[in-house]
Amino acid sequence: MITGRLLILVLLVNFTRCDIYKSCSEVTFCSKFRNYPATRSEYFTAEIGEVNEDKMTNILTLPLSNEKDVKLELQVSFLSNFTARLRITEVNRKRYELKEVLDHEPHAVKYDITQQTNHKLRIHPHGLHDASIIISRGAPFSLELAYKTHTRINFDSSQLVFESAEEGEAFSFNVGFQGSTNLYGLHHHADRMTLRETVEADSDPYRLKNVDAGQYQTNSTKSLYGAVPVIYGHSKKSTSGIFLHNAAQQWVDITYKEKLKPSARFIVEGGTLDLFLFFGPSFKDVVRQYVDLTGRMHMPQLWTLGYHQCRYSYLTQDDVKEVVTKMEEYDFPMDAIWLDIDYTDGKKYFTWNPQNYSDPVGLQKYLASMNKRLITIIDPHIKVDSDYPVYVGGQGKYFVKWENGSDFQGTKYYIVSNV
Ligand SMILES: *[C@@H]1O[C@H](CO)[C@@H](O)[C@H](O)[C@H]1NC(C)=O
Ligand SMILES: *[C@@H]1O[C@H](CO)[C@@H](O)[C@H](O)[C@H]1NC(C)=O
Ligand SMILES: *[C@@H]1O[C@H](CO)[C@@H](O)[C@H](O)[C@H]1NC(C)=O
Ligand SMILES: *[C@@H]1O[C@H](CO)[C@@H](O)[C@H](O)[C@H]1NC(C)=O
Repeated sequence: MITGRLLILVLLVNFTRCDIYKSCSEVTFCSKFRNYPATRSEYFTAEIGEVNEDKMTNILTLPLSNEKDVKLELQVSFLSNFTARLRITEVNRKRYELKEVLDHEPHAVKYDITQQTNHKLRIHPHGLHDASIIISRGAPFSLELAYKTHTRINFDSSQLVFESAEEGEAFSFNVGFQGSTNLYGLHHHADRMTLRETVEADSDPYRLKNVDAGQYQTNSTKSLYGAVPVIYGHSKKSTSGIFLHNAAQQWVDITYKEKLKPSARFIVEGGTLDLFLFFGPSFKDVVRQYVDLTGRMHMPQLWTLGYHQCRYSYLTQDDVKEVVTKMEEYDFPMDAIWLDIDYTDGKKYFTWNPQNYSDPVGLQKYLASMNKRLITIIDPHIKVDSDYPVYVGGQGKYFVKWENGSDFQGTKYYIVSNV
C-alpha cells in the first residue's frame, strides 16, 4: 500500500512543517563527522595475526586498534546466497542492537581461508570460490568484496570513526562501489533515480529520517516518508549492494569523484555498525539477496495497484458518494477511495462521525455495487480523551514514551495525541 500512503501525504496540508528539514550543519554529529578527516593516528590496523575463528558460528573475528588506543572488533562471516556480513563493535562498550527488522537471524556458512600472511587474509564461502573477501592489515585496514577476480565493494577504513562520548555514540564509515557507474537507494526522494553527487556539488548529504512532508519539492534529495539504508551500486556489467542494519538517523554523502569507484560515506547517529554486503552479480540477485534478509511483501491484490482517490478531506458520506458517482459517470478508472480523519467521531480513530457518516455500511454497499473499495486512514496517533476507550486502554502501555517513562504527547490535527 505504499503508493496509496504516499498519495495521502502529498495531499495532507499542514502548516507547521518549517523545522522538519534540518541541514547537516544544524545537526551536531553530522557536521562534526562530515568535516572530520581522520588522521593517521586514528587509522585502524586489522591484526591479522590475531584472527580468531569460531568454527561453531562460522564467524571470523579480528581485533582493530589505532594509535589512540581505540579498540574495536571486526567480525566477518558469509551467509548463504552470496551475502557477507561485517560487524564492527567496541571492545568495552555495548551499543543498541536492532531487533525485529530481519526476517530471521541469518546463519553464517562455513568458509575457507585461502591466503593468510601477516598483511593479507583471503576467505571464501566453503565451496564457492567465485566470492571472496580480502582483508588488508593497514593502517588504515581495508576489506574488499570480490566476485570472480573483480573487487566490487571496498570497505575503506580511512573514514572509520567511532565516537563513544557521553553525549552520543555516532560513527561513520565509507564504502566504495568499484566499477559501478550509478548508485541507487536510500530514502524516498522526489528526484531522479540515480543518487546525486553531494560532496563535489557542495550540497547536503542524503538524510535518512522519515518525514511527513506535505507540499514537498521536486528535484530534491530531501527525505520523504520512508527510508531504507540500502545502496545498489550498478553498472551495465554488474550490480552489488549493501544494507546497514541500523535504524538511527543517518546522513550519507555520495561521490562519483573517482570515476570507477563511486562511494557512500555513512554518518550514523547511534547503534551498531552491522553491514550486509551483497555480491550480486545482477540487479535481480542483489534485490533477492537483500529481501532474503528482511522478508518479502505479500503479493498485492490487483485493485491495490489501481488508481486510488484520496483527499484531506471528505466531510460527509454524501461527498464520497458524489465523487465516486462522478468518476463512474465520466468513465474515470478508479479502484478505491480513501477517507482522512473527518470520517471519525471527534478525531477518534476506530469510530464513525454519527452525523456526517451516519450510515457507513450503506456507504460501503454503495461503493461495492460499483466495485470500488473504501479505505479509512488510521494514523499512529490516538486522541487524549478520558472518554475514549482506545486511549484509556493504551495509557502507560502501548504509547511511545518520554525518557522519564511517561507517555509522549504531541499535537496532530490540532488535537493532543499519543503516538
Ligand atoms: C529537474 O531537474 C532537471 C535537470 O536535472 C530539469 O531538466 C527539470 O526541468 C527539473 N524539473 C523541475 C520540476 O524543476
Ligand atoms: C536463499 O535464497 C532462496 C531463494 O531466494 C531462499 O529461499 C532462501 O531462504 C535463502 N536462504 C537464506 C538463508 O536466506
Ligand atoms: C459535517 O459536514 C458539514 C458539511 O455538510 C460540515 O460543515 C461540518 O463541519 C461536518 N462536521 C464534522 C464534525 O466534520
Ligand atoms: C516527562 O517528560 C516530559 C517531557 O519533558 C514532561 O512533559 C512530563 O511532564 C514529564 N513527566 C513526569 C511525570 O515528570
